[in-house]
Amino acid sequence: MNNKSTILVTGGAGYIGSHVALLLKKEGYEVLVLDNLSFGHPEIVRDILDVELIVGDTNNRFLLDQIFTTRNISAVMHFAAFLSVGESVHNPAVYYKNNVVGTLTLLEAMVAANVNKLIFSSTCSIYGISNDIPITEKHPNNPLNPYASSKYMVEQILKDFDQAYSLKSVIFRYFNAAGADPSGNLGEDHTPEVHLIPLALLTALKKRDHLVIFGTDYDTPDGTAIRDYIHVSDLATAHILGLKYLFSGGNSDMFNLGNGDGFSVREVINVVKKVTNVDFSVKEGIRRPGDAPILVGSGGKIQSKLSWKPEYTNLETIVDHAWKWHNKRHGIK
Ligand SMILES: NC(=O)c1ccc[n+]([C@@H]2O[C@H](COP(=O)([O-])OP(=O)(O)OC[C@H]3O[C@@H](n4cnc5c(N)ncnc54)[C@H](O)[C@@H]3O)[C@@H](O)[C@H]2O)c1
Repeated sequence: MNNKSTILVTGGAGYIGSHVALLLKKEGYEVLVLDNLSFGHPEIVRDILDVELIVGDTNNRFLLDQIFTTRNISAVMHFAAFLSVGESVHNPAVYYKNNVVGTLTLLEAMVAANVNKLIFSSTCSIYGISNDIPITEKHPNNPLNPYASSKYMVEQILKDFDQAYSLKSVIFRYFNAAGADPSGNLGEDHTPEVHLIPLALLTALKKRDHLVIFGTDYDTPDGTAIRDYIHVSDLATAHILGLKYLFSGGNSDMFNLGNGDGFSVREVINVVKKVTNVDFSVKEGIRRPGDAPILVGSGGKIQSKLSWKPEYTNLETIVDHAWKWHNKRHGIK
């Protein structure tokens, strides 16, 4: 497969998809972004990525057929989804429709057009509660909320699509994506924001009054939940490796994308205060439904099978890159 084939990036106007699209372009691939802009940022695709954006929905089969019949798409990277755990608990229908039905529509269109390579964004939250830290891919699945279930269902669908239609997929189960492109030109900007590091940075920038810790009574050393933060640029590198693996004839496979290091909410807040040099107000709240106490992943499988090597494993570096982006986007220009 030559580098000039077109990769369809669904959700490429969003946080992770835009970083992967940037790297795809640097690697010489043609990139076509499909995003319904429910959360995406068209100006990032236009001004920073400088790739074509089709504004549309993965539930739109007519549009997908048009794309697959008129463009030379060799593979799809599928980021488009809704991702708020809390919202999924209160409104599961929206999550199943967007994340499961939208993906099924995309997969059917791919099969019809004979496009048989897909990279899929799954999540560590399908593991549920675990005492085996770091979590490997062999860990049983126990999704605790509709968001995680929606990802788990797609994983099952992908298995069946491989068996029935030879659609080959690489599934990445991300732990917590964090950080920003080191240039400061790309980064995380969700509205509403639900992730800890950007929320803390926005509080440091005085865009929010205070930061809330959801749960201080977990069975962890400081009582707050522990997560594994992985730099978004390292996620992007993994996606290129996954794509090359599929192009070289690799079978469907699934990999954790985590660093293997856990940080509690309080530890993250302390790092954010140190990096920004701002002391902001922090309040203690109750647990959110559907949150696991500890999620830390082993990246051993992808390191050995795809030779992935994360570059930015230090939490301070991750927060520093995110801070550079947030300052540019929301703070002092
Ligand atoms: N951010 C994380 O820490 C994390 C962790 C685990 C998994 N993931 C998964 O990674 C993927 C990307 O996450 P992100 O943080 O970049 O989210 P994001 O919201 O920044 O990006 C998702 C993009 O998809 C678009 N979109 C949503 N539904 C769509 C649809 N039906 N059709 C077309 N476009 C649609 C949105 O407009 C948005 O631009 C998601 O699938 C998410 O579930 C993210």
